[in-house]
Amino acid sequence: MKKTICLTAFSLLMIAGKVEAQNSKVGLPIYKNPKAPIEERVKDLLSKMTIEEKAGQLNQISGRFLTGPSTEDSSEKKKVQDLKKGKIGSFLNIIGAKKTEEMQKVAVEQTRLGIPLLFAFDVIHGFKTIFPIPLAEACSWDLKQAEKNASIAAREAAAAGLHWTFAPMCDITNDPRWGRIMEGVGEDPYYGSLISAARVRGFQGNLNDTAHILACIKHYAVYGAVEEGREYNLVDISRVMLWNKYLPPYKAAVDAGAATLMNSFNVFEGVPTSGSKYLVTDVLKNKWGFKGFLVSDWGAFGEMINHGYAADKKDATQKALNAGSMMDMESRIVINFLPELVKEGRVSMATVDAAVWPILYYKFKLGLFENPYKFSNEEREKKELFTDANIAEARKAGDASIVLLKNDNVVLPIRKNSKVALIGYYANKNADVLDRWPGQGDTAKVVNLYNGLTNKLGSSLVGFTDGYKDDGTTSDSLLQQALETANNADVILVNIGISGKLAGECQSLANPIIPDGQVQLIKALQKTGKPIVALVSAGRPLILTQINDLVSSILYCWHLGTETGNCIADVVVGDYNPSAKTVVSFPYSVGQIPVYYNHFNTGRPNTNHGDGGFTSRFRDIPNEPLYPFGFGLSYTTFKYDSLRISNQNITKKDKLHVKVNVSNTGKMDGEEVVQLYIWDKTASIIRPVKELKGFKKILLKAGETKEVEFTLTDKELSFYDADGNTRLEAGAFKVFVGANSRDVLEKDFTLQ
Ligand code: GLC
Repeated sequence: MKKTICLTAFSLLMIAGKVEAQNSKVGLPIYKNPKAPIEERVKDLLSKMTIEEKAGQLNQISGRFLTGPSTEDSSEKKKVQDLKKGKIGSFLNIIGAKKTEEMQKVAVEQTRLGIPLLFAFDVIHGFKTIFPIPLAEACSWDLKQAEKNASIAAREAAAAGLHWTFAPMCDITNDPRWGRIMEGVGEDPYYGSLISAARVRGFQGNLNDTAHILACIKHYAVYGAVEEGREYNLVDISRVMLWNKYLPPYKAAVDAGAATLMNSFNVFEGVPTSGSKYLVTDVLKNKWGFKGFLVSDWGAFGEMINHGYAADKKDATQKALNAGSMMDMESRIVINFLPELVKEGRVSMATVDAAVWPILYYKFKLGLFENPYKFSNEEREKKELFTDANIAEARKAGDASIVLLKNDNVVLPIRKNSKVALIGYYANKNADVLDRWPGQGDTAKVVNLYNGLTNKLGSSLVGFTDGYKDDGTTSDSLLQQALETANNADVILVNIGISGKLAGECQSLANPIIPDGQVQLIKALQKTGKPIVALVSAGRPLILTQINDLVSSILYCWHLGTETGNCIADVVVGDYNPSAKTVVSFPYSVGQIPVYYNHFNTGRPNTNHGDGGFTSRFRDIPNEPLYPFGFGLSYTTFKYDSLRISNQNITKKDKLHVKVNVSNTGKMDGEEVVQLYIWDKTASIIRPVKELKGFKKILLKAGETKEVEFTLTDKELSFYDADGNTRLEAGAFKVFVGANSRDVLEKDFTLQ
């Protein structure tokens, strides 16, 4: 037996050797040899490419629909002509096994070198099965579920011919006026880092199958700090804020192995990020060691002209490439000006090769040279999309994303035999449930709130009426109908908020508030004397102050995707005990924006101890948000006590062990997100009064108590200076543990 195995191994070696010999004998170029190391194949292919073909690899064109301002001739015919000339290296917005295969055939069979295309699409929170918007998903504090959601989205997208998603969006923001707050990670850098990494892992896996796709860290960098929350507006922040607040999630995504990264639209220190050598080369490549490739956001290279940074398209091309940027999404300038710039010596061939290298690398890594059509498989497309299992996961994710902000007199959960009045225009409209990044989600297959409640309670127990119009106004007749519906019910569920069409890019709102008509509706419903439950649908934290005291309960439902109605119904009747906690502060008023938990003490903190005049405060509203970061209630109650630390004084080499007891003091099993914060009270660069440095989501049965332990090391106690170097400084610290960033127990300790 052993002899036979040896022979087999020997004969295999002989065959491999023969193939090698044959390859070289028939002159098969190295880049076509699947056995050659990828690095060798890239090098060989680059050596065969003309500058025009290299520019082609740096040119990305949109396919069948636009997700940005339309540019010059975008006819299919022109695209195919350019593709045949090797002038396009990847497409976005070409979707489907059939369509991608068609285009791939042109690239592989009708171009000189047959370099396969990459197909990309905005798979932001699901492809066909749509999950909660990323901001809502983040409120679950369930990193495993976030990773799983991304892996399902990747599996579906990969079955539809796609190789690459433009996600995760890692932008920190404190501004609910900005429509893209829905897409990100919330306001905290520590948690934003963890969830960004989880999403990268979910999308990419090991990139060694047809169930995962390239992730794309975006929008690098600091897009979420646009002034006024106005889309595409100026960003102007310090390097200290850059390093400590905004960069960590991008870095975490790089460390998680993300293959690609997207330049943002904004400037940093007066330079558009596409042209920022500091961000793209000094930080991303040299300091962080990023080895993947960059793609600009839509038209961002060309927009350096509008910014006033580039004189013309040729200048913009030179500035983008020399800063270290690479692929040009839809500016169509690199393809037209790069060859000339290289011939004139204004961009070196080494710079071009460094830009093309990672793009070719990932085309080899995905196996597209061996089988360019491996992702374009109609059978798999039919099998993988919108499966019951995927839909069930979307429901699980949605349940865990709904934040219970208020529940006076425990109106919720309602009994399953309650007669409910569901009032709210959006509640039975599918068109408003998904947001502006709906992937290939089918609006017709969305479970809206009315569907969800009737699925759960039966239609005989659910009365419905609009109560207000799409524009948020109401009328006497609508109010009259609402009162009639309410009078026939035990509980009033009023669905308020704003449409999903206002969640996403270019949806800035100067007044992210509850529309007046909806406030009038609630005031009218108060006359019934029945408890009112507000179910808020929005892709951002709206200002709730006007309705907060008018209703008994508030469930913040965000936009939850395909299973929206079923998720909300699960929580309303208590089939799911809400466990989510908000990852963004809810401002008390528009004038308070930006308000966030990790704020600074100032020289005159508002201590409210009677010194009255000269402290940092408003005259007309409190300093604190209506609901703080980390806040979320449960149908049960939790008690925190006996916070203890392992040492009052630690050295820089020590670990600090922090323990707290958490008890479920209610009658229902429930999950609690226990949060740990620190305050570095004295430092060479001032530090926020709280910084999240740990959390644990635990399940406690009714009456159960658990000891929860955290460990603090030098990593959690350090901060960055303006050069991105970490500093760990001796001095006084506070550690806080609690249910959110406001309700905490605290202890002091000293770092020596
Ligand atoms: C858009 C967005 C970006 C998206 C890209 C492609 O303008 O800013 O997030 O990935 O264009 O659709």
